[in-house]
Amino acid sequence: MIILGINETSHDASVSLIENGNILFAGHAERYSKIKNDWYVNKDLINDAFQYGKPDKIAYYEKPYLKKSRLMFGGASDWRPKFDIDHIPRISFKHHYSHAAAGYFTSKFDDAVIVVIDAVGEWNTTTVWSGEGNRIVQKYSLNYPISFGLFYSAFTKLIGLKPNEEEYILMGMAAYGDSNKYFKEVNDYFPEFDRQKYSFHKGIDDWKNIILEQDRFDIAAAVQKVYENRLFEFMIYAKKITNKNNLVFMGGCALNCSANTKLWNLFKNIWIMPNPGDAGSSLGAAAALYGKHLDWNDPYLGHDLGSKYPVIEIIDGLKKNKIVAVATGRAEYGPRALGNRSILADPREESIKDKVNQIKKRELFRPFAPVVMEEHASKWFDMSFTSPYMQYAVKCLRPKTIPAIVHADGTSRVQTVNRYQHPGLWRVLNKFYLETGVPVLLNTSLNIKGQPLVNDAHDIIEWEKTYNFPICK
Ligand SMILES: [Fe+2]
Repeated sequence: MIILGINETSHDASVSLIENGNILFAGHAERYSKIKNDWYVNKDLINDAFQYGKPDKIAYYEKPYLKKSRLMFGGASDWRPKFDIDHIPRISFKHHYSHAAAGYFTSKFDDAVIVVIDAVGEWNTTTVWSGEGNRIVQKYSLNYPISFGLFYSAFTKLIGLKPNEEEYILMGMAAYGDSNKYFKEVNDYFPEFDRQKYSFHKGIDDWKNIILEQDRFDIAAAVQKVYENRLFEFMIYAKKITNKNNLVFMGGCALNCSANTKLWNLFKNIWIMPNPGDAGSSLGAAAALYGKHLDWNDPYLGHDLGSKYPVIEIIDGLKKNKIVAVATGRAEYGPRALGNRSILADPREESIKDKVNQIKKRELFRPFAPVVMEEHASKWFDMSFTSPYMQYAVKCLRPKTIPAIVHADGTSRVQTVNRYQHPGLWRVLNKFYLETGVPVLLNTSLNIKGQPLVNDAHDIIEWEKTYNFPICK
């Protein structure tokens, strides 16, 4: 049986196609419509997915009318889901159950605590589940308006960023701030994991301080610290009520790589599906309907450019220009460019950062991430675990050798690669290592500023025209 999973009508629409546990396709609407965080599935995305098979059933990622009840409670006048594909039988799962299924059924665990934390689904905002064999059972929930995600998003808006989209910028800014300056004020908004000052859905409306430029960074630092404290307390609680050592962490909050690192102090094993936010829930809904573990290999599940990994071209480009653009094979499912739609660069000079920034034209305070050979990772970064999907920020142990990928607080958001996970990218790193003694490259997303990741052949032409820079393909 072929199942199509759909997530749409909120931010980050996506579809996934599975057949008997095999993931045939998973892709984001925004990569086809070129509208960032696009709410709706589009024909081009559906057509791309249907090349791999036609679905017998559709699984939808949340309960539309349960969601409607919460939206009306929150003051919305009316809301109707809009569906494009209406003629195939459709079954809906609860928003947090789709997150839980996406995480647990792509993990290698048959016994785990599953924690889902986001802004809000229908009503649930934070849930704990027990995963055993093929069964996922809810153990705890917090409901709207108490919400980790809404707290974080409200402060994202307060410091002048776009909520539901630019939370990662707040996280990056935190490294430049003094977390003590506003700690008490921010902590008062969220003093315990199940207690908040008021509903943050409409933002922070009683912040007294005049916001100077440095205040934005100090507030960001305090918000990140309060979030990390509440998250850690909540994870202790989740572990206690389930008595499990394997953690599956899902929901948009699982994208907070600085906070994620600290969870290794609590759990023996951790799995965060590389697309833990709502965009990953189309796969979650499909997995929920299938009801068993999926055959998870890697996140390269989207549009196929069909070419072989251009190892030699990349190495030549790095030698010549120190920076290369790569677009090849299948697109990443998830927000991170993990080698198939990436800009790769030599990380050994600080000035490389400025050069990549000239191309990307983004805020100078935002860090660039490294990709490192897994076998060398612990010598270059303070980590005793792997991070194949760039989900953890860890201390860089040789910041003077690779300054281009170190953040202001001395950490790096690491992607580890071994020869099985991505043979082409591993070979690039290995060749670079043999020539330079450095098994690390800078890796950042390949996109035209303000647009989603490069997806197809047409995007490649547009990118090359815009930046007058060739792409290895
Ligand atoms: Fe969610």
